[in-house]
Amino acid sequence: MWGGRFADGPSAIMREINASIPFDKALWRQDIAASKAHVAMLAACDIVSDGDAEAIIGGLDTIASEYEADGVPEDWDLEDIHMTTESRLAELIGPAAGRLHTARSRNDQVATDFRLWVRDAIDQAVAAVEALQRALVTRADEHADSIMPGFTHLQTAQPVTLGHHLMAYYEMAQRDISRFADARHRLNQCPLGSAALAGTGFPIDREMTTQALGFDAPTANSLDAVSDRDFALDYLQAAAQCSLHLSRLAEEFVIWASQPFGFVRMPDALSTGSSIMPQKKNPDAAELVRGHAGRIIGCLTSLMVTMKGLPLAYSKDMQDDKPPVFEAAGLLGLSIAAMTGMVEGAAFNTGRMRQAAELGYATATDLADWLVREADIPFREAHHITGAAVKLAESKGVALEALSLEELQAIDTRIDERVYGALSVEASVAARASHGGTAPAEVRKRVAEARERLGMD
Ligand code: ARG
Repeated sequence: MWGGRFADGPSAIMREINASIPFDKALWRQDIAASKAHVAMLAACDIVSDGDAEAIIGGLDTIASEYEADGVPEDWDLEDIHMTTESRLAELIGPAAGRLHTARSRNDQVATDFRLWVRDAIDQAVAAVEALQRALVTRADEHADSIMPGFTHLQTAQPVTLGHHLMAYYEMAQRDISRFADARHRLNQCPLGSAALAGTGFPIDREMTTQALGFDAPTANSLDAVSDRDFALDYLQAAAQCSLHLSRLAEEFVIWASQPFGFVRMPDALSTGSSIMPQKKNPDAAELVRGHAGRIIGCLTSLMVTMKGLPLAYSKDMQDDKPPVFEAAGLLGLSIAAMTGMVEGAAFNTGRMRQAAELGYATATDLADWLVREADIPFREAHHITGAAVKLAESKGVALEALSLEELQAIDTRIDERVYGALSVEASVAARASHGGTAPAEVRKRVAEARERLGMD
């Protein structure tokens, strides 16, 4: 393809280090679509004849069915997907194949193909995250009243509902979707026609290829267009942050499934046993989601480091942009699917959760709030009085509401029997009805909004 000025061919090591076909063959659909759009434009602009354009488009269609049926051949001498397809085109239609590359370079070609690939990856990620959201919303609806301990520092803090807890992950997923949408918006400009780096002297029509490939506009600067990989970084950033959320949810499942917690039984289909300990049921899928998040973050770091020192315009380092993106996309797809299955199939032990919420003085804040509300005591003083009540209950090994009125009044005379109405875990969650709070009625409102947005009704 470029042998004109060379006397010797590349060494074996050069062929191997240079070849991107082992991984960039994944771009074949995008490469063929972009080539068809390019040659149709060249014909419309009278840069190639209609006859040659037809032969090229027919040849590209044949190649597409060959790739579909047999896969893409891997010949290192042909370096990459672009040369592999062009060389096959020459075999199929002869010298007219050489006209396809008019007013184009592999630099704008690969930038275009890769944007198209990442655009599809974004659309797939959004669809998968929405499926996870549907699972979360369904289980949250079911458990809008199920009480569990809410934690800070992984110490029992206040009672919450399981529905509320699950809807927290719905919100994270919603931000993930919005990050993917932002990435897609910025990505959707067409580099094709930027040629090697400076644009082209041929009278091309960039609007035409832009529209044919579903982009919003042609890129505005040819140097930037061929050397920009922000779109891939934006995608990886969104993927990394999404994987981080999946990892946190996975971590909760790992903790909740442990015997001391016993909050959840994981679906058999997403667990494994032990080869030595017969009683074991391990949450491997959740642990691997947690592990994969580390690898996805590594993919983001990898591409950032690849790009950070490159002068304009294209440098071959940029060929290393694809493996981390492909790897992250595969890992992310698996992770979202695994977490969706876990949320759908988890058997929550609501009795155990409720019991845990009743231990650990989770309604101490409710006692303090009651003293503020009913006895007009400043919150700091109420906090102090409550602390004394917790200390007494703890020394007796009982719950707050198991203290007698005499015992409570010995701590502060302003306490009366109405206090017991505030000390149950039900009263505690029902009271937290501020917008976005854990009260079952509030959770149901958020669930209804989410169901509406997801078209679930
Ligand atoms: N395989 C190359 C890549 O992925 C295509 C671009 C080659 N351009 C060049 N100037 N050598 O980056």
